[in-house]
Amino acid sequence: MPIPERFLDELTERNDIVEVVSQYVRLTKRSGSNLFGLCPFHSEKTPSFSVSPDKQIYHCFGCGKGGGVINFIMEIENLGFQDAVAFLARRANMAMPEEADTEDVSRRKRLLELNRDAARFFYEKLVSDEGKPGQDYVNRRGISASMVRRFGLGFAPDSWSALSDAMRKKGYSEQEMFDAGLLKHSRRGGGYDTFRNRLMFPVIDVRGSVIGFSGRILGDGEPKYLNSPETAVFSKSHNLFALNLAKKSKSGYIILTEGNIDVVSLHQAGFDSAVASLGTSLTPEQARLLSRYTGEVILCYDSDEAGRKAAQRGIGILEKLDLKVRVLQLPGAKDPDEFIKKNGADAFSNLLSGSEGQIEYRLRTVEDAHPADTDEGKVDYLKAAVALLASLPNAVEREVYAARVAEKAGVSRQAVIAEIDRVRRRKLRDAKNRESREQTRPAVNAQPAQRGIRYDDPRAARAEEGLIRLLYLDPGLARGRTLPDASQFSSPLLGRFYTELLRRIRSGERISPGVLAGQFTPEEMSHFTTVLQGPEDLANGERAMDDYINIIAGGTEDGDDLREMAEKLRKTKSYTEDKK
Ligand code: GTP
Ligand code: MN
Repeated sequence: MPIPERFLDELTERNDIVEVVSQYVRLTKRSGSNLFGLCPFHSEKTPSFSVSPDKQIYHCFGCGKGGGVINFIMEIENLGFQDAVAFLARRANMAMPEEADTEDVSRRKRLLELNRDAARFFYEKLVSDEGKPGQDYVNRRGISASMVRRFGLGFAPDSWSALSDAMRKKGYSEQEMFDAGLLKHSRRGGGYDTFRNRLMFPVIDVRGSVIGFSGRILGDGEPKYLNSPETAVFSKSHNLFALNLAKKSKSGYIILTEGNIDVVSLHQAGFDSAVASLGTSLTPEQARLLSRYTGEVILCYDSDEAGRKAAQRGIGILEKLDLKVRVLQLPGAKDPDEFIKKNGADAFSNLLSGSEGQIEYRLRTVEDAHPADTDEGKVDYLKAAVALLASLPNAVEREVYAARVAEKAGVSRQAVIAEIDRVRRRKLRDAKNRESREQTRPAVNAQPAQRGIRYDDPRAARAEEGLIRLLYLDPGLARGRTLPDASQFSSPLLGRFYTELLRRIRSGERISPGVLAGQFTPEEMSHFTTVLQGPEDLANGERAMDDYINIIAGGTEDGDDLREMAEKLRKTKSYTEDKK
């Protein structure tokens, strides 16, 4: 571990989970000592996100996410472990310990340096005599010299080895170039330059590092764009082109487009908050990234069917994060670049101020899909529109748009509102039924909710969970007992939790989930908090402890005891926090 545990202990001590979470989520006290709020990681209307001050963990009963304070920051700020630790250190005014770079960190640094040198190489080619084909293309697309500089655009020469030769001279190994995705394996062994005869767009992350490239063909041909592959420093789905520039914009919103050229064109016309997703439709990770820099996103996708579909999906994703969303239509142009070339910046500015709110946009899509010119069409339209309006949480909005739908369909407003209410009641009933079904499912056979975590033997695993929970809550229970060995655990993951707990109990160290965050993945940490949140009757801790140990040691094969125990616990509803 690169960061000493002592440091992590102090870090978690100084960053109380309630204080940290409160900066993102409004928490209210509800049952026992737990605080509850609306989960920031999935969309919900009733709070199922809990924070436990004494266990110093958070756990969402809805989506299953959970962990300690470091996990929370990793998740909500979209940071890796190291960065989350640095974030909390800053918050608590602690100096980060002198860190010797791990192998991993230094390898990443090296790749970033290589990418930066490659970007410099491409840029120099573009502005030199050799870059004539690139320059011609840039001129043809009307991209100004100052935009070439601002985006660091470049030209990859039409050669199998121009870049790799230059990088080799700078001391980079072939392996490093493969790792950065700049070199591809040729069938006869060796490698060749990935990007050839293309206009190069460096992808720069919010910290200013060149993490990858997007290369456009000069003119027509396939593939139109070539992107860097996924590397140790580049992930398409987690980054946005030009966010490094857009995040500094004073406009108060971010314009999301589909194309790199659209972004350059918009910046050139003065709209400095344009970004593009890198050839994928918007991902939840990209949306979360956006939400760190803005409260409002304006979708400005291509005018074709694919663009409309992408906008619909995008709205859903952005909405979940409470971002204000507007959608821009581009009359008479296929994309923002073309619109600006045809009509100029002022016309685009007018579009921006008139762009529709998402409800209007979605209603109009419904109108387009179900023309209300026949009686049948009207019924279809009403159904679809009512379904849309019923999903709006805000009653005033429902009423306002109900009026519009009523007029369109030629029925009374009251009728529409009554229909919306009916659909809402049904949805509520369905949700309740689902919930109660989930609660009555026998706990003994349940599998973990976290993706990729499976119990081979769910019954044995419940006992293993129980043992872990008891040890966490009351390490004193370890005294005077022969404890099972982790190798006796049926679940390897629970065995790892257990090993770590025992190690800490025996060495007298504090057991905080904050510290565990460095050793377990976020999914595993979520599962850990699920385990900790389970019901446990501490008053009978000694007895339960023996039962669990007995089962783990193979004392009972049929598991009836355990089922009985789980049943009893459920009935007494004696959750751990009641012990106070
Ligand atoms: P122009 O057509 O020159 O205006 O370019 P554009 O940047 O606007 O691209 P377009 O609207 O055709 O495509 C939108 C985005 O999808 C591009 O910026 C790329 O990120 C991505 N894309 C387009 N074509 C390809 C392709 O062939 N391969 C990959 N991987 N991505 C592509
Ligand atoms: Mn385009």
